[in-house]
Amino acid sequence: MNNDLIVVAVNHNIQRGLHYEVVFKGNNINSNFDDTSVSHLSEWIDTLGEESAKAQNLKQSITSYKKLIDERNDDKIYIIVKTDDYNDHNWIAVGFVRLGTKDLWFADRDNTNLRQFCNCFCILDFYVRNQRQGLGYFLISLVMKSVSTPAAQFAYDRPTKAMLTFLDKHFGLSRPLPQHNHFIIFENFF
Ligand SMILES: CC(C)(COP(=O)(O)OP(=O)(O)OC[C@H]1O[C@@H](n2cnc3c(N)ncnc32)[C@H](O)[C@@H]1OP(=O)(O)O)[C@@H](O)C(=O)NCCC(=O)NCCS
Repeated sequence: MNNDLIVVAVNHNIQRGLHYEVVFKGNNINSNFDDTSVSHLSEWIDTLGEESAKAQNLKQSITSYKKLIDERNDDKIYIIVKTDDYNDHNWIAVGFVRLGTKDLWFADRDNTNLRQFCNCFCILDFYVRNQRQGLGYFLISLVMKSVSTPAAQFAYDRPTKAMLTFLDKHFGLSRPLPQHNHFIIFENFF
């Protein structure tokens, strides 16, 4: 099903500058994916970031190339790309997830204990252009595997209704614990 896709993970830091890595390559990919292909990176990120904001009814985009290359930003963006149907040297981006790590305070269901969690994996933005075709599950599963962390151990930043339904369907996460910091975690987090 995902044989014509590539997933690229992109991040930026002071030591290495902009760094990308192909973390998945489908069996049907014949064309080369190289530095020329990623010359569209900023355009891909900005376009998908804007589409995501629109899909979530946000006033403005929360994911952009400019934010990614900010020196204080340590996020990693996983982008799904595929070749254009008419030109297999032309790559188009069709979805992304932005992963970050944060130090956050979370309360349990009774709101009695407040504990700090350091370097907690967070899903900060997530969008797929052609929805409900399994692409979102494919992408987020890849991310979870790449950081060896199950869905219940992530914190989700302001998840949409679609995201909550998605997490319940694919990972059985049905009892959210909303937090004051706008993140949502699930019972098995603790
Ligand atoms: C959330 C999202 C990334 C999931 O990706 P996806 O490729 O659509 O998800 P999958 O095809 O792997 O899984 C589909 C399941 O997700 C849930 N889902 C997806 N879109 C939904 C929607 N509009 N309403 C309710 N549930 C939805 C459902 O459980 C669905 O299963 P169903 O079709 O049998 O009802 C995608 O729907 C999206 O981009 N939505 C708009 C932006 C958004 O809400 N982002 C989340 C930010 S936290």
